[in-house]
Amino acid sequence: TTKKKLIAGNWKMNGSLAANEALVTALRQGIGTPACEVAVCVPAPYLSQVQQLVAGSPIALGAQDVSAHAQGAFTGEQSAAMLKDFGVRYAIVGHSERRQYHGESDETVAAKTAEALRNGITPIVCVGETLAEREGGRTEEVVKRQLAAVIHVNGHCISEIVVAYEPVWAIGTGKTATPEQAQAVHSVLRAQLHHAANEHAAGIRILYGGSMNATNAAELLVQPDIDGGLIGGASLKAPDFLQIIAAAR
Ligand code: G3H
Repeated sequence: TTKKKLIAGNWKMNGSLAANEALVTALRQGIGTPACEVAVCVPAPYLSQVQQLVAGSPIALGAQDVSAHAQGAFTGEQSAAMLKDFGVRYAIVGHSERRQYHGESDETVAAKTAEALRNGITPIVCVGETLAEREGGRTEEVVKRQLAAVIHVNGHCISEIVVAYEPVWAIGTGKTATPEQAQAVHSVLRAQLHHAANEHAAGIRILYGGSMNATNAAELLVQPDIDGGLIGGASLKAPDFLQIIAAAR
């Protein structure tokens, strides 16, 4: 396929005005004209700052979450329309840290996906098994269930979604899935997309996430069904993130 890969940084709850400026400035200096699409998903308080820092660069702005609701009495949440006001292109939805620490169900993740799509924001929907689930031979069952929940979002073309496969045991642990392990799950997800979305499936990007770094990015990104990366720790270091971007062609 001709789709461009997507390299998205997930800063998680890291950064400061000073650190963000230094990081984005270094990225802008080194990025050139990347062969892939690039995004940074930043903490909500810094959306406005980073919107200005990335203006006129190839770096798109992303959020790390989005409310399942349009507006109203939902203290602490940000609606998709609010994110859109700040130029947000992508929103991570259903990250395992949200599922684990904030009790997000497949149903919630589907509602958030729908809200993002309704407001013209591309959701990056995260799926992935825990170590116990992998060891119990349940990896396929878990990721297929998680993906199925968002495939049937009413009235929207599934091709507007980005999927991120993030094995929970590989997140922030330094323990990456091998390229073969990752590709095996990506091909399962691709087949599921083909079955549900037929002609659109080939155009849907499936990112890998979980301890992707400057050293292992190339061998992961060369796999046939790995269309980019969702990068946590390594996205906070400009030289490392730039190397990953350079590896995505
Ligand atoms: O969203 C990013 C993933 O959770 C990966 O994080 O690269 O620090 O392992 P990590």
